[in-house]
Amino acid sequence: MIEDVFATPIGQYKLDIDCLELERYILNMKEKDPKGRTISNVGGYQSNPLDLNDKNFKVFLDKLLLKLKEYSSIFEISLNTKIHDYWFNINNLKHGNKLHNHSGAFLSGVFYVKIPKNSGKLYFQNVKASHDNCFKSKTLNTYNKYRSNYYNITPKENLLVLFPGWLDHLVESNNSNENRISISFNTVIE
Ligand SMILES: [Fe+2]
Repeated sequence: MIEDVFATPIGQYKLDIDCLELERYILNMKEKDPKGRTISNVGGYQSNPLDLNDKNFKVFLDKLLLKLKEYSSIFEISLNTKIHDYWFNINNLKHGNKLHNHSGAFLSGVFYVKIPKNSGKLYFQNVKASHDNCFKSKTLNTYNKYRSNYYNITPKENLLVLFPGWLDHLVESNNSNENRISISFNTVIE
């Protein structure tokens, strides 16, 4: 008998959202707050926390809550998950996000609003990323959940990715001349 005794779930869901309308609103907001803030971003723009009651994000937030409910059920926690904060990111040429996690958050995630070609994959790092010492072979080039150090996702517009807040991740730099827009968020248990 073999059992998977610990697991790290990553949820991927396609949301049916008008990304063009969201993009226009986001670019407008950036003009009103051109400085934003710097946290994990290497270059690029990260907004300050957004208003949870902003009507322009209502469709997104409502759909996000539904998916959070579905995804969080696997944790079998009898308490509710609520959105704690959310913000948007705009990465231009050569901008990315260094390895970080959302420590303190229960679940975190990202929704892709605008994704030009080659604008950067999302990489998750194995919680026990020390396997390189054990597997000194070319087999490391192919993904295997028992021995890989990284798992990556190629973003697409309208894709929502959910993951535990403690999971380390990074965003490759944008190699496109167009901007890459996403919305990130953290949740807590209430
Ligand atoms: Fe992040």
